[in-house]
Amino acid sequence: MEEGLNEQEFELLRHLLRKKVGITPHPRKRDLLGRKMLALAKAGGHSSWIGYIRHLARPSGEADLRALINLITIDKTSFFRGDRQFEILRETVLPSLLARRAGSGRFRAWSAGCSSGQEPYSVAMLLLEALRSLSFNDVKILATDVDSDSLKAAWRARYPLETVQGVPDYYFSKYFFKETAPKGTFFRVVDQARKLVVFRRLNFTATPYPIRGPFDLILCRNVMIYFKAPLKRKIILELHRLLAEDGVLCLGGSESLLGVDDRFVLTGQAIYRKRDAA
Ligand SMILES: C[S@@+](CC[C@H](N)C(=O)[O-])C[C@H]1O[C@@H](n2cnc3c(N)ncnc32)[C@H](O)[C@@H]1O
Repeated sequence: MEEGLNEQEFELLRHLLRKKVGITPHPRKRDLLGRKMLALAKAGGHSSWIGYIRHLARPSGEADLRALINLITIDKTSFFRGDRQFEILRETVLPSLLARRAGSGRFRAWSAGCSSGQEPYSVAMLLLEALRSLSFNDVKILATDVDSDSLKAAWRARYPLETVQGVPDYYFSKYFFKETAPKGTFFRVVDQARKLVVFRRLNFTATPYPIRGPFDLILCRNVMIYFKAPLKRKIILELHRLLAEDGVLCLGGSESLLGVDDRFVLTGQAIYRKRDAA
């Protein structure tokens, strides 16, 4: 098996990845991708790239496709990423949403494209603070991603020092504890926050999403930036369907629905509401 992918093989792979996961690797990534994939292909006993790529496209190649997806997804994230948006969530969005849900005591959030968990745990910390003076008995954060390795790391909730360094002191001292393991020192999210979060694998390309709404808050941040317009539109339709009528959708700082969909209205800082909401 050749070490690198030729142009035709790379095109076949790009087509497959776009269809299966919405990601279209840049031609600049051809060599890097080939190097990364070589071990996977060889471990599966494949002797040609074409054979390997065709295998990935078949239902029997699903597990190997997942391994490849885990390898290519961009999992960059951090606690309280996009600080200003989290400030707005803490100061205005959550207090007003929670006030409206006080009667039912139920609140649902969804971190869609949660990577290794920093985003849903940041939401969990904000919620625990906001709920201190309220009596809610049914609060959950669904956290989904297509990358099963990221989901495993997220569930473990165990982070090295450099990952927690940017966490504001108040949250750091209250919601993390230090754990010394043979491989070094880690910081774990406390159970109180972990218990609020449920992790599941969900691929944005596979609509309709097999999850139950409505969600009061959806974060779908720094994910659609990698997708082409038709898939973005498909995702937005699903987010709209699953968001409560007066719910709130947060996108990433550099993402916008302008020219993609007019079902949502921007209220500032990449925070959206449904257009027809009161
Ligand atoms: C850059 S991270 C963003 C993490 C977090 N939302 C944030 O803003 O910090 C993008 C995440 O989207 C996930 N992702 C990429 N394609 C996906 C797909 N088709 N379905 C679900 N998740 C996907 C990746 O696995 C990755 O964890």
